[in-house]
Amino acid sequence: MSPPLSKFAQSVGGSTVVGMRRQADALEATGMNVVDFGIGEPDFAAPPPVQEAAIKAIRDGHGNYIDPTGLVELRETIAEFEADQHGLHVGVDQITVTPGSYGGLSLITRALLDPEDEVLVIEPGWGPYKAMVMLTGAKAVGVPMGTRHGRFVIDGERLADAVTEKTRAIIVNTPWNPTGRVLLREELTAVAEISERYDLWIVADEVYSELVYANASHLSVATLGADVADRTVIATSLSKSFAMTGWRLGYCIAPPELSALLARINQYTSRCASSIVQYAAVAALRDGGSFVAAMRQEYSLRRDALADGLNQIAGVECPLPEGTFYAFPQIPEAWGDSREVAAHLLTKAGVLLTPGSAYGPASRHHLRLSFATSLTMIEEGLSRLQDALPPRGEFAGNG
Ligand SMILES: Cc1ncc(COP(=O)(O)O)c(C=O)c1O
Repeated sequence: MSPPLSKFAQSVGGSTVVGMRRQADALEATGMNVVDFGIGEPDFAAPPPVQEAAIKAIRDGHGNYIDPTGLVELRETIAEFEADQHGLHVGVDQITVTPGSYGGLSLITRALLDPEDEVLVIEPGWGPYKAMVMLTGAKAVGVPMGTRHGRFVIDGERLADAVTEKTRAIIVNTPWNPTGRVLLREELTAVAEISERYDLWIVADEVYSELVYANASHLSVATLGADVADRTVIATSLSKSFAMTGWRLGYCIAPPELSALLARINQYTSRCASSIVQYAAVAALRDGGSFVAAMRQEYSLRRDALADGLNQIAGVECPLPEGTFYAFPQIPEAWGDSREVAAHLLTKAGVLLTPGSAYGPASRHHLRLSFATSLTMIEEGLSRLQDALPPRGEFAGNG
């Protein structure tokens, strides 16, 4: 028998998205054709200038370790990009380059938390936040959002009520996976006020910052004022905006003291993000703007088609997503838990999507559908959903 394993590590469960993808793989292996609305990554290739910059970096022999803070030229480019795109003015000493924002968030949780500390994770929320908090031995406390006009919104009172003397941080994500929301100034201000009142860190996940559609605009909580910036750490990446998920390139923006700590932990974690990709990232941030705009335009068309089609299915209510590439419709309680509905749709209709339950109990009766897939697939998927909903028989829930 092997010796025991870490309790913190074992407290972490598997990912629903990955689990459902594996089930879909198994069904496809039997010959079933699956329409994939589960995917959390762009279906585009990285922009050509990025690809060329990576090849050039390889040819120029740039395959060496880089300082754990990141390539200076990249950090300077990030500072310019953040100032131009988000009005965020930061020094190079506030930026740490990481392997994706997974890498960044994992540094952040370790830099901020000790065992027994608590972190407020707003739900519905991206599952890995809880796992990353738990890996440090701290406790992730789920706090449900409120709802307004069928959309999930930040509820400042619920957040304040969940604070204890052990609370160290609140995680916010805008644009918000899975809800498709882009948080409003008033919602971010509520978070900022609570963080100030109780002396908490704000961990701001902004990976979808460039995927915002007409009538919405991305606002970084760190731009609300110098006091807020002093208690905010941003994790973001080029994964979604520049279609570079597998390239693994992200960065954190933090006050200088925390930034230095993040770089120190990075040194003992991955040592540095890939050197080749750091050169490619300079090209993405400098020359990728028109590619991002074209992808956004395409996502916007798909978003309209998907939300329209979902709203035509009896019982399904889908607010128009303001950002990200996820639609998050509500389904009737009578259909049962969204896990059962998702299982029914996969096995009976060949439609892969993610149950809202994966994002916390507040969204038990929601489904997440990614529109990072072609219009043709969206139409095919919608027609299958029309036929398969409402679920009947063994999956019909309690209703
Ligand atoms: C909300 C959110 N944050 C962070 C990530 C991690 O992305 P990456 O590590 O590729 O930057 C994802 C990916 O799905 C996400 O949806």
